Amino acid sequence: MSALGTEPNPLRVAVIGSGPSGFYAAEALLKSDLAVRVDMIERLPAPYGLVRYGVAPDHPKLKEPIMVYSAIARLPHFSLLGNVAVGRDVSVEELRAHYHVLLFACGAETDRHLGIPGEELPSSHTATEFVAWYNGHPDYRDRGFDLTQEAVAVVGQGNVAADVCRILAKSVDELRTTDIASHALDALAASRVREIHVIGRRGPAQAKFTNKELKELGELANCDAVVDPKDLELDPASRTEVEAKANFVAAKNVEIFRQFAAQPARNAARRLFFHFRKSPAALAGTGRVEQMVLAHNRLEGEPFKQVARETAQTEVLRCGLVFRSIGYSGVPIRGVPFDARRGVFPTQDGRIVDGAGAAVAGLYAAGWIKRGPTGIIGTNRADAVSTVKALLADVPQLAPEAKPGIDGLKTLLAARGVRTVSVEDWFKIDALEVARGEPHGKPREKFTRVAEMLQCLGVQ
Ligand SMILES: Cc1cc2nc3c(=O)[nH]c(=O)nc-3n(C[C@H](O)[C@H](O)[C@H](O)COP(=O)(O)OP(=O)(O)OC[C@H]3O[C@@H](n4cnc5c(N)ncnc54)[C@H](O)[C@@H]3O)c2cc1C
Ligand SMILES: NC(=O)c1ccc[n+]([C@@H]2O[C@H](COP(=O)([O-])OP(=O)(O)OC[C@H]3O[C@@H](n4cnc5c(N)ncnc54)[C@H](OP(=O)(O)O)[C@@H]3O)[C@@H](O)[C@H]2O)c1
Repeated sequence: MSALGTEPNPLRVAVIGSGPSGFYAAEALLKSDLAVRVDMIERLPAPYGLVRYGVAPDHPKLKEPIMVYSAIARLPHFSLLGNVAVGRDVSVEELRAHYHVLLFACGAETDRHLGIPGEELPSSHTATEFVAWYNGHPDYRDRGFDLTQEAVAVVGQGNVAADVCRILAKSVDELRTTDIASHALDALAASRVREIHVIGRRGPAQAKFTNKELKELGELANCDAVVDPKDLELDPASRTEVEAKANFVAAKNVEIFRQFAAQPARNAARRLFFHFRKSPAALAGTGRVEQMVLAHNRLEGEPFKQVARETAQTEVLRCGLVFRSIGYSGVPIRGVPFDARRGVFPTQDGRIVDGAGAAVAGLYAAGWIKRGPTGIIGTNRADAVSTVKALLADVPQLAPEAKPGIDGLKTLLAARGVRTVSVEDWFKIDALEVARGEPHGKPREKFTRVAEMLQCLGVQ
């Protein structure tokens, strides 16, 4: 038998997920010294994960990594099997029979919960839903958000919350020539939102916004950023935090908040209020959210380990629409160990480990499903490369028998009636989206239903 990783017996790897971590892992595998075949399995017909369905439409530059990914998709020995969900169309066990190695790069597809009364009331939503809706994700295409409400609360002070605030704050004219889904543009055109309240459970020094994203919130044409100067008084531990050289992002954020506080109001059509040291304690209303009870917090703990502790003081914020933007969480797949507390596949150096901490032969992870839901697009490159390094080091220990790979898998999927989407198929859909966008001055008009995408390929 030929050695594994040589041309007669290439290493067959299934990469599950086509977001940044999947593409960076594929690139590292294909550029290795071994003979490798990479088949990327993606549950949607469209690749690129959160770069397509997360990154905000008004930040087109941040979608540029797609050009890199489409070049990786054209590399020899790379194949895409789009429209195939692992766990639904094919099991992990079946994949293991077809591939030497499975590398999970399936992201963090669900959201965390606040665990407060009223959280599930109508008009209380996750940011995940809203973001996926305005970005045309097929699973969220038919969601509705009551944008007739004048006051909206956004819980959390990270960059996703910043995206949500910007989309709510901007006029449709500012969004019209982006790749925002047209259903979202139409709904936002009728928006009556006037006040956006962005709620942080800790202080301004602990907000997770990056400087550029925060600064942008003070430069919106249609919206005043409002900060109460009293909220910017820092406790001693927070002062220590912002004085630490390595914590320059926090120091700059505090400076930006000070600029917001000093900025004269322009009486813009919309206002964005920053709240600090407040936690939602309950959502209340008759049949829908009408108000949020906010507990006032104090910070406790050493610098960099400060946590928010609720005090007895509360206030009521009247708001008719809520977006919880407190982070994402991974989804388990049958046949793969899952750490439910962290919402990740547990790993050691990228190797998936079982409950006893032992590596499960042939299973690896990269990206958000490995690290949890933090880090920008670029963070996933080093992460995926380090997983691939561990994977390649393990090849001598793998059973060297040849595996059927994509040919066998395609036969199995065809027998189940699954129409797979190849790289060429995707480029066809992609070109049609771009052509649809052109008359409207948009970079593309996305197809927002799986059936529409398959119709582009002649599937009825
Ligand atoms: C709303 C939002 C906006 C963001 N904006 C920016 C930004 O502007 N700039 C920036 O640098 N970073 C941004 N980020 C962060 C960045 O998107 C992430 O770091 C990155 O996408 C994580 O990559 P990933 O490959 O791990 O996961 P993902 O990008 O989520 O990709 C996972 C892929 O796996 C697929 N998948 C899931 N389950 C299965 C399954 N069972 N079978 C087959 N396929 C499956 C999914 O459909 C998806 O395509 C943003 C994140 C969010 C949430
Ligand atoms: N333009 C960009 O570059 C861009 C855009 C979007 C996203 N991203 C990246 O994607 C990643 C995910 O972003 P994210 O905004 O989802 O996550 P994040 O940066 O971790 O922010 C989550 C926010 O939710 C708060 N939170 C968590 N649990 C809470 C609770 N129970 N009650 C109240 N508040 C709670 C956090 O506060 P604590 O700090 O107190 O925990 C924090 O303010 C980040 O790395 C981000 O930078 C980048």
